[in-house]
Amino acid sequence: MNPVEAVRTAENLSMVGMTISFDAVQKSLKNEAHCHLGGAWPLSYLQKISSPEDYLKLVHYLQLIEKGIDYHEGFKVFALTAKIVNTDEKVEAGIVALCEQYARDGVERIELRTGLKDLGSGLEGYLKAVFRGIERGARESGIMVDLLLSLRRNTSKDHCEQTVALAINYFRKGVSGMDLSGDSTIGEGDDAIAALKKAKSAGMSVSVHMGESPKESREQQMREIEELAPDRIGHGVFLCDEAVDWVLSKKVPVEMCLTSSCKVGMVENPSAHPGLKWLKEGHPVAICTDDPLIFGVSLSDECYQAATLLGWSESDFKAYQERIAGLFFHP
Ligand code: IMP
Ligand code: ZN
Repeated sequence: MNPVEAVRTAENLSMVGMTISFDAVQKSLKNEAHCHLGGAWPLSYLQKISSPEDYLKLVHYLQLIEKGIDYHEGFKVFALTAKIVNTDEKVEAGIVALCEQYARDGVERIELRTGLKDLGSGLEGYLKAVFRGIERGARESGIMVDLLLSLRRNTSKDHCEQTVALAINYFRKGVSGMDLSGDSTIGEGDDAIAALKKAKSAGMSVSVHMGESPKESREQQMREIEELAPDRIGHGVFLCDEAVDWVLSKKVPVEMCLTSSCKVGMVENPSAHPGLKWLKEGHPVAICTDDPLIFGVSLSDECYQAATLLGWSESDFKAYQERIAGLFFHP
């Protein structure tokens, strides 16, 4: 039984009293603050554009992930989604499909993040395709979509420099901020940190995936905190004590992705995620999907799971949505 099913079963057994129902979560307006484009394409869209072989491979991979996968192994699936969505046109149409999917789930605002790629028209061509998809998707689905540009700790120096130059050029004209993601144990991060520092000097906000793996050293975490002063932290499960103190004392928002954290073995079950405890204590924590395709979840699933574990009523959930609306980088 997956965590979402477990929570729904708990509700069926009336173990949760007056907590919000799944329908009420789905009908409430919601905000998504952590979603990677390459892990978010609607499955029906990928089926339409991929070869039968690639689609079968993808479905097989998703089934493996559903059962739980090693954190490092999980990243391999992104090569497959990138192979399927391999032109600027497919990127644009995929974002339109993604916006429709989020709108059907009652989402009013998404902060989408993606690493720039050259699909034939250079990094700027890809970025413009993303802008076109966002513009059309937002218009047709009536939702707001912001964009963060992602770097990984092993992104090449040239790619980091080109990305940050484009981010600064399009800051507040389509780009809202930046993100540091990818397997947190691969790459020293020097070039990415230098680029993100540039972005911050230009007034941009930066979210950093941190505490995804117990192999991250205290030095790595504290260096990134000291050099970047991240505006938000993605996941934050395996933070060293000093990093936890910093996050809590500075009230740095945490993006919590319960199913993602469970499926890749960061936590044994959703209730063990430290973000839930922090949320309960009043710390700003956004409930997010991470990769709705890869983990087979909607934002409603993730919100319902958290709300049930916290025993939230409908009004608690509405109050939470109002609080997190202020965490978005785009005002
Ligand atoms: P893209 O940047 O649009 O291609 O989205 C896919 C990328 O997002 C992956 O290649 C990873 O770098 C990143 N990503 C997706 N999920 C995670 C996560 O849980 N942790 C770290 N990085 C992630
Ligand atoms: Zn992520």
